[in-house]
Amino acid sequence: MAPHDSEVVEEAMVTLQENKPISTIVIIIAMQTEALPLVNKFQLSEDPDSPFPKGVPWVRYYGMYKDLQINIIWPGKDAVLGVDSVGTISASLVTYASVLALKPDLIINAGTAGGFKAKGACIGDVFVASGVAFHDRRIPIPVFDQYGIGCRKTCPTPNLLKELNLKVGNLSTGDSLDMSPHDEASIVANDATVKDMEGAAIAYVAELLSVPTIFVKAVTDIVDGDKPTAEEFLQNLVAVTAALDQKVTQVVDFISGKCLSDL
Ligand code: ADE
Repeated sequence: MAPHDSEVVEEAMVTLQENKPISTIVIIIAMQTEALPLVNKFQLSEDPDSPFPKGVPWVRYYGMYKDLQINIIWPGKDAVLGVDSVGTISASLVTYASVLALKPDLIINAGTAGGFKAKGACIGDVFVASGVAFHDRRIPIPVFDQYGIGCRKTCPTPNLLKELNLKVGNLSTGDSLDMSPHDEASIVANDATVKDMEGAAIAYVAELLSVPTIFVKAVTDIVDGDKPTAEEFLQNLVAVTAALDQKVTQVVDFISGKCLSDL
């Protein structure tokens, strides 16, 4: 087949994909506290025959909600330390394994985030990311610098944003809850409103595997405020999770019966 023909075929496949109703969703959530209220809301069950390799802590909850096959994927607890497996490594691995096993039409990464008051974020706000990038992968060599930052636009959802009155901002990802001066400079360069520990990694894998992804992030702590981040995060986690889960439910309700091109 001539290169031109293969491009035409690929374009036609993308159009087909965008115009067929969304049927399978993977929702990736890093923390159990964030995931369980949604598991209950959608009346999902834990998969006794997990599609993941034996011995990994990753958990799949699944079930039908309206016309959608919903999968909530939680990376589980660290086998040695017993805490949630947060961060980019676990997020990348579960995204890769989930896409291969479940072939979703859409990924939603839902979770909490730090917000910047200088960019208009308040505790309890829920943002949809318009773009994602890393802030802790500094490689000061031409082109490698851009590879490290890994700046990506997200799947456009103009109707969803309008209908649900969601806030929009860039998301910056790194593997630390706190923020070093180097991180801060990169976050400012990324023009980020919210900061998390998974988003840009999930975006990288989703792009590799051509799965559109939406990032829904609720603000538990104000990074450029006066309170110590860890304290503020833990204090607000449960209440803000309720706001997050309410928005994620609205997002899923909106998606039901629609195609990617309707979002
Ligand atoms: N999740 C919640 N708050 C966060 C923060 N300040 N940084 C990274 N991830 C977060």
